[in-house]
Amino acid sequence: MWSFTKHRSGESELMDDPSIQGPVLESTLIELESINRLLGAYPPTLDGLARLLPPGQKNLSVLDVGAGGGDVARAMIDWGRARGVEVQVTCIDLTDTTINFARARSTGYPELKLVQQDLFLLPDQASYDVVHAGQVLHHFPGELAAKALNKMATLSRLGVLIHDLHRHALAWGGIKVLTRLLAKSPLIRNDAPLSVLRGFVREDWDQLAQEAGLSPPAVRWQLPFRWQVIFSPRSRSG
Ligand SMILES: C[S@@+](CC[C@H](N)C(=O)[O-])C[C@H]1O[C@@H](n2cnc3c(N)ncnc32)[C@H](O)[C@@H]1O
Repeated sequence: MWSFTKHRSGESELMDDPSIQGPVLESTLIELESINRLLGAYPPTLDGLARLLPPGQKNLSVLDVGAGGGDVARAMIDWGRARGVEVQVTCIDLTDTTINFARARSTGYPELKLVQQDLFLLPDQASYDVVHAGQVLHHFPGELAAKALNKMATLSRLGVLIHDLHRHALAWGGIKVLTRLLAKSPLIRNDAPLSVLRGFVREDWDQLAQEAGLSPPAVRWQLPFRWQVIFSPRSRSG
């Protein structure tokens, strides 16, 4: 039984259904990009990169886990270009439809590599400066969220940058009304409010860090109802 303040909903989102592919998934990714632009999905990620980039460093490798249509990865590269920092992003996602869609929209971005890959199946030896997951962690039910964090912390050298949703009644009500009015995709209408119910409250982040065997993260709340969370990497010597 979930609660806005205590528990995350365990109900699965339609986007997690592997049988949904082709044009239905593509139109959903188009609408997700519009929502990302309209509702401030990029600032938590870009501000997080600025915090993680060591002073004077002019290049940054990023693994973008669950990259969707690749718009967030392109925003990271644009952010780097504007600052003279070469940001190389490897995007992974579960399905060919998603990866091919992202590829088609990413011409002019040679810094972007797109791979169909499950996070949990990546070899632990892979290594990136920053491992980023935007609006992905809430897709993992129960203990899988901590398992995913653990994996990401193993793969990162500078830190794990999470952007995800605040589980709050106002966020749920707001996105429900907005998607009823503006979204055409049935997946977006169903999944956007459900994503909020599967999102996080402040206490969840320390709890997740503990379950993943990580130090308490740096947590920042950003408008509108978004979390930027930075976890330290796992030491490779141990
Ligand atoms: C809500 S979308 C977020 C897309 C993008 N990051 C954004 O912020 O717009 C979540 C994505 O995570 C992907 N995903 C879920 N589990 C995954 C896993 N184990 N490995 C890689 N990607 C995964 C899904 O396929 C989906 O495309």
